[in-house]
Amino acid sequence: MQNTFEIAFNSSETFREIFQGSAEGILMVDEKGIIQLANPVSERMFGYTTGELTGKPLEILLPNRYQSKHVNYREQFHKNPSPRRMGIGRDLMAIRKDGREFPVEVSLSYKEINNLFMVVAFVIDITERKKVEGALKQSEEQLLLYAAELEKKVQARTDALNKLVEDLERANNFLQEQIAERKKAEEETKKALAKERELNELKTKFVSIASHEFRTPLSTVMSSASLVQQYKDKGDLEKIDKHIQRIKSSVNHLTAILNDFLSLGKLEEGRVEIEREEVNVDEFFNEIHEEIRPLLKEGQTIELSCTLKNKNIPLDRRVMRNILFNLISNASKYSDRNKTIHLTCKESKNDLVISIRDEGIGIPEHEIKHLFERFFRATNATNIQGTGLGLNIVKRYVDLLDGKIDFESYEGKGSTFTLTLPIT
Ligand SMILES: Nc1ncnc2c1ncn2[C@@H]1O[C@H](COP(=O)(O)OP(=O)(O)OP(=O)(O)O)[C@@H](O)[C@H]1O
Ligand SMILES: [Mg+2]
Repeated sequence: MQNTFEIAFNSSETFREIFQGSAEGILMVDEKGIIQLANPVSERMFGYTTGELTGKPLEILLPNRYQSKHVNYREQFHKNPSPRRMGIGRDLMAIRKDGREFPVEVSLSYKEINNLFMVVAFVIDITERKKVEGALKQSEEQLLLYAAELEKKVQARTDALNKLVEDLERANNFLQEQIAERKKAEEETKKALAKERELNELKTKFVSIASHEFRTPLSTVMSSASLVQQYKDKGDLEKIDKHIQRIKSSVNHLTAILNDFLSLGKLEEGRVEIEREEVNVDEFFNEIHEEIRPLLKEGQTIELSCTLKNKNIPLDRRVMRNILFNLISNASKYSDRNKTIHLTCKESKNDLVISIRDEGIGIPEHEIKHLFERFFRATNATNIQGTGLGLNIVKRYVDLLDGKIDFESYEGKGSTFTLTLPIT
């Protein structure tokens, strides 16, 4: 038997066709919530046979937990009917006859047929969509996971790369250091070679100068020796004495040249070390005076004046002797006979100040700047014997003593050399 709805419904052919052929489930429900009509799709969707839903309360299609709420909801809709979608923002669940739940999407509409209010519900089973959504969500999660993993991997790679770069930098630095070290070693070798070459040149030069310088004293020795022989036969003791003196002074001169050579060699090789000991300066200067007196020219004298507060001062005897011998012998050599050499020493602050003044030929002003250079010989001294090494050696010794040497000289008048040596 057809109910009122069915009669009304069947009266419109078009409506019936839409209803029967729709791809969505369509349920028509009366005011009391009783299903009056269910299209084939909805019957299949909920697992009922044809016509089985008609006359059943709508709530049988909902899971228990929603049923009471739904009754309220239905009543609200009757009071204020308007087409709408249900469950926006949340998942709607429906239940099949066999008890299986499934997600749905529901749109509501209403219709009055023959004064009867009828709610039309369009129902779509969205199980598949949800699955896809779920799968999508899962993929998205997986993607995120994968991205995170990837990021981790990238980070790990970056770290590894950074480490590699650091290692490389370190290796590079190490190499640079090695290169620098090698360069340094190379430079040192070069320097040593240059020094050796210089030393060799010096030796060669010295040998040529020395052989030249040796010739005069040696011929003096030779001629004086022959003369001694002659005067011996004649019995002229005075002349013999004079020539023995000449031989002695020539030998001294040769010794001085050899000493210079040895000093310079030692200085060049850095083999000179300062060894200080307490020296009684008065006594020391007297010793030097005694030693050098026989080497002075005829009539030359040394005027010695030492005014020291402390008698004893720590000095390197050997070095001091060498310096003073060089300066005093220059004062004598570049002065005439009968001239005086003034030797003074005093203490000033923490220094020992020694000066050697002569009344000799002096040094031409324009040559003063070369005075301490090796092999320098002033133009006014060319016919006086000398190698030009003495002052160079003196300067080096003074440097070793952390002291300084100054001078004042006027050509034709005389020179003063002043040593300032710290008292340590
Ligand atoms: N007291 C001095 N008066 C004048 N000239 C001097 C004096 N001392 C040095 N000179 C000049 O300086 C030059 C260099 O002196 P230095 O003592 O170095 O060498 P040298 O006396 O010529 O030789 P060496 O001392 O090696 O035997 C001398 O040749 C001379 O021209
Ligand atoms: Mg000299």
